[in-house]
Amino acid sequence: MDACPIRFEVQLPPEDEARARTAYAAATDEAAVADIIQRHREERGNLLPILLAVNSHFNWLPQAALEHVAQELHLPLTEVLRVASFYNAFSLAPRGKHIISLCLGTGCFVKGSPRLLDQLERRLGIKHGQTTADMLFTLEVVRCIGCCALAPAMRIGEDTFGRLTTGQADKIIYSYTKAASL
Ligand code: FES
Repeated sequence: MDACPIRFEVQLPPEDEARARTAYAAATDEAAVADIIQRHREERGNLLPILLAVNSHFNWLPQAALEHVAQELHLPLTEVLRVASFYNAFSLAPRGKHIISLCLGTGCFVKGSPRLLDQLERRLGIKHGQTTADMLFTLEVVRCIGCCALAPAMRIGEDTFGRLTTGQADKIIYSYTKAASL
């Protein structure tokens, strides 16, 4: 995984940190991966749906899970990594509970999304592409999320927010943080 030539910078944390950040070591999660593999075992071309389900379970693809998949499907790990590193939907680095996708497409850019990016980076104390230390947020920038009429826009998980001001972005982050602390 360290040598995987993927298109985006892979931020693999030190092994101890990665282990602490993922609950993969827990038997229930290892069992979850086994369940996912079992569910798709008889399908043709099952690697992609398995990786999607594993990514959805952990919010990223832990190395241990990839090794588990490779072993069970009798595939070389390099083949699993080739698929895992090809699609934007997958992450080889731990990601937070909430993925913030801020649009920097042309429509949003001219409506002020760079200011929003500055604000979010300041508010969260991270740069885009990074995850907060409490693993609550990952901040990503994307090119158009398909709602240009609402520019500038961002998405958090399945929720879309449009015509955003920096103040509104702040309040939205606060509401997610507050909800997580309840
Ligand atoms: S450019 Fe931002 S949603 Fe299309």
